[in-house]
Amino acid sequence: MDDEILRLLRGPSGSFRSGEEISRRLRVSRTAVWKRIKNLRASGYDIEASSRRGYRLLRSPDLLTPTEIKPLLKTKWMGKTIHHFQTIASTNTEAYQLALRGAPEGEIVIAESQENGRGRLGRHWVSPPFLNLYLSVILRPELLPSQASLMTLMAAVAVAEAIERFSGLPPVIKWPNDILLNNCKVAGLLNEIHSETDRIHFVILGIGVNLNMEKERLPKEIRAMATSLKMEAGKAVSRKEFLSCLLESLEKWYTLFLREGGAPVLAAWRERARIKGKPVKVTSFGETLLGRAVDVDAEGRLILETEKGERKRIVAGDIEYKKERQ
Ligand code: BTN
Repeated sequence: MDDEILRLLRGPSGSFRSGEEISRRLRVSRTAVWKRIKNLRASGYDIEASSRRGYRLLRSPDLLTPTEIKPLLKTKWMGKTIHHFQTIASTNTEAYQLALRGAPEGEIVIAESQENGRGRLGRHWVSPPFLNLYLSVILRPELLPSQASLMTLMAAVAVAEAIERFSGLPPVIKWPNDILLNNCKVAGLLNEIHSETDRIHFVILGIGVNLNMEKERLPKEIRAMATSLKMEAGKAVSRKEFLSCLLESLEKWYTLFLREGGAPVLAAWRERARIKGKPVKVTSFGETLLGRAVDVDAEGRLILETEKGERKRIVAGDIEYKKERQ
């Protein structure tokens, strides 16, 4: 019923709706309407009440509820079904379960906070309430499991593009899929797949973007390496507007990837990562390697030329950029 009330109050902007009209349209008592208005106010909606004229919506909160997001969506199919949670263990875990139960491509899971936000390589993703974006998208591409890494590069390109379109700031991608602003991590991706040997059943694109996080809220251990859009832009950002921008980029890049294959994704990824020739330290499955990044290959693996002159292809891990030796 909250959605219905908000839809009526959103009508011609700045206008009042009488309690009598709302109760008639929703077929509930005026007392019931008043109770819902009180609840909406408690959720952050600024609603003026006048005994003569009725109710008027003055301001909506920056929540990621379907009610708030749907009017802003610019996508054709992505995000049309939204599973929203105040708090949840991990949006990826929830999306995975939904996909196992048959949820179609394009459904998304969003939470205002995560109790067990998961990062790559078993790390924790700090997920305090109402500050950032914690999003998981269910996709069902007809691809081979070996092409799954390209999906991750595709998502990194889409996130970087959305950040740039939204803020004007120029993000850089760090292999495989960290998004940096000013050398500090602003967003990360945790993509999980469910597949058989020669077919992907579904992919869960898990995306965390630090939007309005303040420096003090970041755990000390990552303070020097992490940032948020607010910290970089110097002002708070609208989470729902950002989400709309992100879904638009994601739908565009995913559609392009399915239609034209990996080439445009790899070109955009290379352009944003500028990795060729950089001295790097790679940590992969407990091993540390020093060398120079040559490129990423057509499957998204990092090609490394080690200090001993060997070429290696790295499937998973982390890199750190090293200073050029003089
Ligand atoms: C990383 O850089 O380590 C990846 C971080 C991914 C975090 C996002 S937040 C939404 C989704 N749900 C999770 O539990 N993790 C991802």
